[in-house]
Amino acid sequence: MTQTHQSAPAQQVQRAPGCTMVIFGAGGDLTKRLLMPALYNLSGAKQLAEDFKIIGVDREQISGDDWKRSLDETMQSFTHDKTAEFYTPQIDATAWGWIKDRLHYMQGDFSQSDTFKHIGEAIGGGSALFYLAVAARFFGTVVDGLGQAGLLKQPDGKFRRVVIEKPFGADLPSAKALNARILKQADESQFYRIDHFLGKETVQSIMALRFANGMFEPIWRRGYIDHVQITAAETVGVEERGAFYEPTGALRDMVPNHMFTLLCMVAMEPPNSFDAEAVRSEKAKLIEAIRPVRLEDAARGQYGAGKEFDAAVPGYRQEPHVAADSRTETYIALKLDIANWRWAGVPFYLRTGKRLAGRRTEIAVFFKPAPYQIFRDTPVDATKPNVIRLMIDPEQGIETALDAKVPGPKMQLGRVETSMRYKDFFDEKPNVGYESLLYDCMIGDATLFQRADAIEASWAAVQPLLDSWGRGEGKVEDYPSGSQGPSGADQLLERDGRHWEKLQE
Ligand code: BG6
Repeated sequence: MTQTHQSAPAQQVQRAPGCTMVIFGAGGDLTKRLLMPALYNLSGAKQLAEDFKIIGVDREQISGDDWKRSLDETMQSFTHDKTAEFYTPQIDATAWGWIKDRLHYMQGDFSQSDTFKHIGEAIGGGSALFYLAVAARFFGTVVDGLGQAGLLKQPDGKFRRVVIEKPFGADLPSAKALNARILKQADESQFYRIDHFLGKETVQSIMALRFANGMFEPIWRRGYIDHVQITAAETVGVEERGAFYEPTGALRDMVPNHMFTLLCMVAMEPPNSFDAEAVRSEKAKLIEAIRPVRLEDAARGQYGAGKEFDAAVPGYRQEPHVAADSRTETYIALKLDIANWRWAGVPFYLRTGKRLAGRRTEIAVFFKPAPYQIFRDTPVDATKPNVIRLMIDPEQGIETALDAKVPGPKMQLGRVETSMRYKDFFDEKPNVGYESLLYDCMIGDATLFQRADAIEASWAAVQPLLDSWGRGEGKVEDYPSGSQGPSGADQLLERDGRHWEKLQE
């Protein structure tokens, strides 16, 4: 295949309007590992306003210098850990210095009104982006605190926006209650519910593939597509996050947010425009069309001891902060039925899990066979389905699998693949996926954020399954670390005469 490398056309991106970014959870992992690298990249790209500043708020009694020092250490560590979310051979002193000069630390308890009074004094009448990098149980508390202190009233010509991390609720009632609670304090347009999958270039590029290329439009529907497999497989275990993961599990951690985001990208109707509300309405419509998931359309599992690459690793129940008799699932597979005109009868199979045989985030679209087996009298048993694979992570690109004639006297078919990697065509910059999301919050573009109705529809789709599990129904199968996952997930497809794409290292 001919590959032409060309730099992306220089994009003229303007600096975002000036604001104070207030980070609740300044001492947390998210701030260090993702927000700071993203701000550093935005600083390097000159996308932040000169009068931009950052106030980090947390309970710990430390000095501003201590905070900066700890952020600095983490930033420098990115130069020698190629496996970190952010890897860069060196930290540009000017871009990072620009951010460091704007960092201020404020000790504060999120449940005390004084904290919000002090924040109010620090931001004055300017624009502010309140980033909730805190555990989900504090979301309501912080938004109440901001609202009660009058900090969510938008001064003339200025904005006050709140970025809320996941998980947004733990089920439908709690998601509804949280939406109702925060919407008492400010308007929906001021809330930016973040899903970092939407910050991934490769996820956004699915929209470009579908809506900028006429060749896909006629075939992207039930008449041509047999089924779709959406995979987010990880090789890592739960790591140090046992306390968070125990009450959460793979379904809540990944499905109503990240997996449904991928589903929307591949299955939503073309929006009338790229206007935020037009795009978000199509996503909400698609999610509302998912038929509520039943127990028999799911398979869950939990990793046992095994191997992560060549190293022996413990099972989930031996991980720190995990109960010895835990039933929390670390793997979930679902069969979704989308009740709309385009997708009726086309199953969407989703699977996500930890400690699997390979790390792979991708969407594989399987096409129906050719209408007539013209090869039936030849030594060709059956043609295989065509597949378009949209690769999101760690490979980033598109592959197609086709049947072709094997050279020789007989008509014999062999499998061929074409493949495209984005990096062969466009320059890549190290990024953590939060850059464009943060920038979008500052310029007020909510296209890539989840609206209240879509979040509630997502929880509604999985609620019957959560209810069944809550009643103790359905087994949690063990699967060895480093394997393909629980056998129930295979059966979910086998009963439909299909099978999963194999996960490989
Ligand atoms: C997070 C989940 O939101 O997404 C993690 O809490 C998961 O459990 C992660 O590992 C996966 O994201 P990525 O970008 O590494 O594929």
